[in-house]
Amino acid sequence: MGRAGEAAVVGEPMKVADFDLWVREQLAVVEAALERWVPAAAPAGLGEAMRYGVLDGGKRLRPLLVMAACDAAAGEHSAALRAAVAVELIHAYSLIHDDMPCMDNDVLRRGKPTVHVRFGEAQAMLAGDAMQALAFEVLTPAGGDADAIAPLLQARLCGLLARAAGFEGMAGGQAIDLASIGLPLSESRLRDMHRRKTGALLQASVLMGAACGELPARAWSALSGYGAAIGLAFQVVDDILDVTQASETLGKTAGKDLHHNKPTYVSVLGLDGARAQAESLRRRAHEALSGSGLAQHAYLSLLADLVVDRNS
Ligand code: IPE
Ligand code: IPE
Ligand code: MG
Ligand code: MG
Ligand code: MG
Repeated sequence: MGRAGEAAVVGEPMKVADFDLWVREQLAVVEAALERWVPAAAPAGLGEAMRYGVLDGGKRLRPLLVMAACDAAAGEHSAALRAAVAVELIHAYSLIHDDMPCMDNDVLRRGKPTVHVRFGEAQAMLAGDAMQALAFEVLTPAGGDADAIAPLLQARLCGLLARAAGFEGMAGGQAIDLASIGLPLSESRLRDMHRRKTGALLQASVLMGAACGELPARAWSALSGYGAAIGLAFQVVDDILDVTQASETLGKTAGKDLHHNKPTYVSVLGLDGARAQAESLRRRAHEALSGSGLAQHAYLSLLADLVVDRNS
């Protein structure tokens, strides 16, 4: 993993090969940490269900955002790695519950049968519950741990993650999602739903990485704006991919939004309108970085492109 301070030189565009190498390095480190911290030994098969839900799959975009923001803020990598794992645990738990019959009723996730299909509904619910708690355990290591995090930073990371996961963020957005089935949402209500259910956790990923360093207020608020833009863009693109890609590419069932009568950026604005939104959010994300005063934001800039240009 690269040390803080060596991400990029001001004014020099990063080579794609350097970015790809950085991504591969971060993914390997995050994967190893997940492997280490998600317990196989949780009772009565719970560990197996938790590991099935979070290991071996997923793009790990949220952990990459944490690590990139930490680099931009020249922050502490060991704290950022815990933040990256914590965010991915919350995200994976949200997917397990999102797929359950009482929510989106999906049988395919990350190219495999969903957790409730494989382990039953009660175990899927408990695996999600335990992963949510584990995220906060990971953020609050015991004092004796070699990579202990300063108490103030622990509290800050927990606060950012809790707010993004709870009623103001993901859980609140998911409640709106279920309450909106079949309703003709206005664009502004749709935006609010997407910001909460998906945007909040992506924005928190950026801010948690940034919190591992020390940033002037202007840079913090620029990264917050960057996170808001890519967070919303992420779900706009998710809505687009649901109608443009095949299940094999997505690793999850394609076409399900229309099937379930969900209001999406595609149903409200049309495919071209949704694509235009994603482009405008990409521009907003890049502008936020340019105005941040940060010397190093090449990884964040390339991750914004990945969010918009991805096909799965
Ligand atoms: C899917 O998220 C659910 C949404 C929030 C739209 P991802 O597309 O990041 O899923 P994984 O982690 O790669 O499986
Ligand atoms: C999910 O949105 C958002 C979450 C908080 C998990 P979707 O329901 O559109 O996600 P997918 O398409 O099933 O991955
Ligand atoms: Mg859903
Ligand atoms: Mg779903
Ligand atoms: Mg979707």
